[in-house]
Amino acid sequence: MSYNLLKGKRGIIFGALDENSIAWKTAERVHEEGGTFVLTNAPIAMRMGQIDALAKKTNSEIIPADATDLDDLENLVQKSMEILGGKLDFVLHSIGMSVNVRKGRHYTDQKYDWTTKGWDVSAVSFHKVCQTIFKADAMNEWGSIVALTYMAAQRTFPDYNDMADNKAYLESIARSFGYFFGKEKKVRVNTISQSPTPTTAGKGVKGFDGFINYAEKMSPLGNASAQDCADYTVSLFSDLTRKVTMQNLFHDGGFSNTGVSQEVVEEFSED
Ligand code: NAI
Repeated sequence: MSYNLLKGKRGIIFGALDENSIAWKTAERVHEEGGTFVLTNAPIAMRMGQIDALAKKTNSEIIPADATDLDDLENLVQKSMEILGGKLDFVLHSIGMSVNVRKGRHYTDQKYDWTTKGWDVSAVSFHKVCQTIFKADAMNEWGSIVALTYMAAQRTFPDYNDMADNKAYLESIARSFGYFFGKEKKVRVNTISQSPTPTTAGKGVKGFDGFINYAEKMSPLGNASAQDCADYTVSLFSDLTRKVTMQNLFHDGGFSNTGVSQEVVEEFSED
């Protein structure tokens, strides 16, 4: 269902790799709601992914950018304003990667240049995106910037490895930049803390199947899907949430506030 919530709004969507990606579903929903945008991803991901099909479907242009590279980001922001015909109203940062996770390196045995690469891609890239936009004065007033995160930033999930630390860093950047963006530009900055979701990044976490099934049983409303996340993101891009900023917003079917569910108790009951 479309409500035209984003009619006339322009933006940039980072991180659509394939049709499972949260950014992919979000791009489709934003398009349905009347928003126009530029799609971007790392050059290498473009060769692997199917982003052309998404661009065609949503009448969007694609500008490659490594989100850790300031020259790429400056080019992306300037070109996006030219293509879209004005300043931006929304930005989605949907980017995450840990080399330690990818290569199966345990949390207690990290290779620190991989750790550094991981926090640059997963957290500092968000600061770089915000700073590039801030300096270029590229957002309209009451615009909205959203990044995606996971609850391992607050509570320990052993196999989430150094991504937990990266997410804590990312959430802190949203609060800190949110202050300056709010004061000086009337722009909101938030993170959405999403349920486990079967995407390329999600399935890269060891034991993902057990993890997602457990979360499903623990959440009174069940896990939030990528499609649900797209809907929630649209609401944060819309004018209906103008005073929501500097928040980490749990979007997880109630998981984060559930001590234990009846289903999980029954799994462990002996009678
Ligand atoms: P995905 O694998 O579809 O998306 C991750 C994206 O990051 C890919 O498009 C990849 O190309 C991009 N990326 C990696 N390095 C980059 C770089 N240097 N520059 C630009 N882009 C780069 O997976 P998903 O799940 O859609 O991930 C999106 C976001 O959602 C990530 O921040 C992830 O941590 C977060 N998230 C995912 C959950 C899950 O269970 N899948 C749960 C909670 C949060």
